[in-house]
Formats: sequence, C-alpha cells, structure tokens
Amino acid sequence: MDKFKVDQELIAKIDRILESYDYDDNSVVNILLEIQSHIPENYIPEEVAKYVGIELGIPTSKVYDVITFFSAINDKPKGRHVVQLCKSSVCRLNKYQTIRDVLEEELKIKMGETTKDGQFTLRYSACFGACDISPAFRIDDKVYGNLTKGKIKEIINTYRGL
Ligand code: FES
Repeated sequence: MDKFKVDQELIAKIDRILESYDYDDNSVVNILLEIQSHIPENYIPEEVAKYVGIELGIPTSKVYDVITFFSAINDKPKGRHVVQLCKSSVCRLNKYQTIRDVLEEELKIKMGETTKDGQFTLRYSACFGACDISPAFRIDDKVYGNLTKGKIKEIINTYRGL
C-alpha cells in the first residue's frame, strides 16, 4: 500500500492519533472517529481506511465492518447538516422538483453531494409525515414545510449562521 497517496499533513495527524491509542486495534472505533473529525468532508476515504488497517495490522475489510456498523462513521462525504428532501407522493404532487432546483442552486451541489466546506449534504427522503405542509424537507431532525424560494434561502442561511 502506498501510504503517500494520502495527503502528508493528514498522514501526520493520523499517525499522531494512532500513537495516542498505542496502535491498539481494539480502539479502532475511536481512532476512526477522531480521524474523521480532522477530515472536512466528515468521512473516512478509502485510502485512509486502508492505511489505518495496515498500521493496526488488521485487514481493510475489518476497518470497513466498523465503518458500516457505526452510523457516526461515514464512508462517503457527509455534511454537518443533512438536508433530506421528500419525494414521496404528496410532495411529488406539490412539485418537490422546484424545491430541489432551489436547494441545488443555493448550495451549488447536486442531490447526493456534499458542499466543499462540509456544511451540507443533499439527499432525497421518503415521506416523513409532513404531507400537510408539503413540499417539505428535513434538516437533520427539524422539519420545514410550505416551502418557497425565499423561505428556503432564509432557512439555509440560519444554518450558515448568517
Ligand atoms: S409525501 Fe412528502 S412529507 Fe409526506
């Protein structure tokens, strides 16, 4: 494995984290969580998973078992806030596509992607019971409905701290 495929600065951080846990493979969950906190996109890239496996002397598949099992550890970029847009029947009738277009334009990403600053991930969702205020989305656990373009910008800006 070519350890230098991973950014040198990140390698140094990972090495420090591994050292602080005495390269103990029983601590792999905490090690991965700590490494993830140093990656702006909030996930464990494949090369990092491989590197951690090598350094801990465990197969990459075991590292992935942990990543898959613990929902707090991600194998794909995930923003600090996950925007989940409902596209079930009522929201479909109420043109969720318009909301999707506004979200994509506002965040400058497509559905399924994460913003470069690691703040937002855009995803589709099945109905989460907010049909009476459809079209609707959730940001983390908070539901927003009766959405308009202006309202969406306002909501997103509150999460940006504006
Ligand atoms: S169909 Fe969208 S919230 Fe129920």
